Amino acid sequence: MRMEDLVALCKRRGFLFQSSEIYGGLNGFWDYGPLGVLLKRNVKDAWWNDMVVGHNEMTVLPGAPGKFEMTGLDCSIIMHPQVWKCSGHYDLFHDFMIDCRETKKRYRFDHIKGSWVKGLKHGENGAPASEVRVFVTTIETEQTREALEQAALKYFGLRKKDAASLVWDEDVVGIDSFPDGDFSNVLGPDAKHVGTLTEPREFNLMFKTIVGALGSDDDASFLRPETAQGIFVNFKNVVDSTRVRVPFGVGQIGKSFRNEITPRNFTFRSREFEQMEIEFFCHPSESEAWYKFWRDRRFQWYVDMGLASERLRMREHDKAELAHYSVGTADIEYAFPFLSEGEFGELEGVAHRGNFDLRSHSEGKLTREGDELVLEKDANGVPKWRGSGKDMSYFDDLRKERFIPHVIEPSSGADRATLAFLCEAYKVDSAPTADGGKEEERVYLKLHPRLAPVKAAIFPLVKKDGMPEVASEIYGELKKRMSVQYDEKGAVGRRYRRQDEIGTPYCITVDGQTLKDGTVTLRDRDTLEQIRVKKDDLLAELQGRIGR
Ligand code: GAP
Repeated sequence: MRMEDLVALCKRRGFLFQSSEIYGGLNGFWDYGPLGVLLKRNVKDAWWNDMVVGHNEMTVLPGAPGKFEMTGLDCSIIMHPQVWKCSGHYDLFHDFMIDCRETKKRYRFDHIKGSWVKGLKHGENGAPASEVRVFVTTIETEQTREALEQAALKYFGLRKKDAASLVWDEDVVGIDSFPDGDFSNVLGPDAKHVGTLTEPREFNLMFKTIVGALGSDDDASFLRPETAQGIFVNFKNVVDSTRVRVPFGVGQIGKSFRNEITPRNFTFRSREFEQMEIEFFCHPSESEAWYKFWRDRRFQWYVDMGLASERLRMREHDKAELAHYSVGTADIEYAFPFLSEGEFGELEGVAHRGNFDLRSHSEGKLTREGDELVLEKDANGVPKWRGSGKDMSYFDDLRKERFIPHVIEPSSGADRATLAFLCEAYKVDSAPTADGGKEEERVYLKLHPRLAPVKAAIFPLVKKDGMPEVASEIYGELKKRMSVQYDEKGAVGRRYRRQDEIGTPYCITVDGQTLKDGTVTLRDRDTLEQIRVKKDDLLAELQGRIGR
């Protein structure tokens, strides 16, 4: 599948538009169109139903260490600034970036890789050639070596056949390994001249905003970069206002904002996106078992929703890769088609966060010292960021024990999941048209019926003989229960193709026989099989096929 084809389909059929497109768009922001909003809502509803409201706390799920409860929250996007100081986002949630003075492009510092190369450089305006050694760079990908060679050939004005005249250092290294930060002999990834890269600058990814009409910079607050913190700071409220007992999880779906330096790959890395997060609170002695349960359960959810397992993988982080709070993390990753062969992109992180979050919001910002979490202090030994001072412990009346629960966090992106489902669903085959029987190329979205934006389309075979009346009556009845479309325009084969392209799993056709025996044809998008169903049984038939 070519990514351009999917992007074109998304625009043509109203799944996704660039935000503010008529003004040239705004990088990193996207609008979901009439079909996109249905698809993404179905993704979020499937998650919410399967993980939160549909959970039966009276049963033990396969692989779970025991029973557990689930509940939900919908927290504000702007929270007290202290939340982000204690969570670590204020100090740590940043990237280093570097600008190119020549091309005006901005890069993530840790993405620039390069190698030293020596060659003959012709002087400008006929000046004699001299030997120079430059550090040629590119943005790291699978093709880093080829990209570096091309950049070097261009810089030295050579053709491919003269490549052997260049003398390379063996290693490709990150520009962030330059000990003295002297970039005077560095050729930026897209530059023609050396020495055009600036010093790296720290860049906090949180969007700042001022609360209140008279607010100054001192009142600065932030758009949340994750939904998780709303759950942590409400831990006590949830325990005190409901009958939930540890172990329990709180789910939340909502917008998050990150001022990403390089938003890219369609909606994959956006500046405004939606997260579906669970914070699962459990006894410390059981946290490892719950971590494994959630990791495997979340992986299986993507498989059940239609992602092929060979394009999906689970990757446990190395110790060095773990976030400052994390005892263990696994990423659920998908081989998105815009990535190079063999590369995977993160769909969801499942993290064992220990008691970092609840303790930080109680005591103040913590930091890891060896295996211990200790209060972070400034040079004078004063706690750097004060916590709320509120007791975040939990008393378990069955164990007769007070403890600070450990947290397992399955944190998923609704936009990335939606994009992965779209990529996986995009299929091209050759199928006979329904009317002529001639084989024709067919583009269809093989979306899970629960995710499909339109569940069924209803057609009268022809626009006469009472067929439109029966078809519109069926449409009216089904419309009360699910998202359906009515279409009477053009040959029925074309109408099937239009629905295939947006992933509608079922098409219902009212034909001559309907008028005699009250049955209609029900066509399956994937198998193209058609069966006859009594029109009065259609709702039950569709509900059975779509699932909950
Ligand atoms: N609370 C933990 C947390 O936020 P994360 O790995 O930074 O962890 C979780 O984000 C998920 O949110 C990611 O796996 C991804 O699906 C989604 N996500 C993160 N940044 C994103 C971005 N810039 N654009 C779209 N989705 C993003």
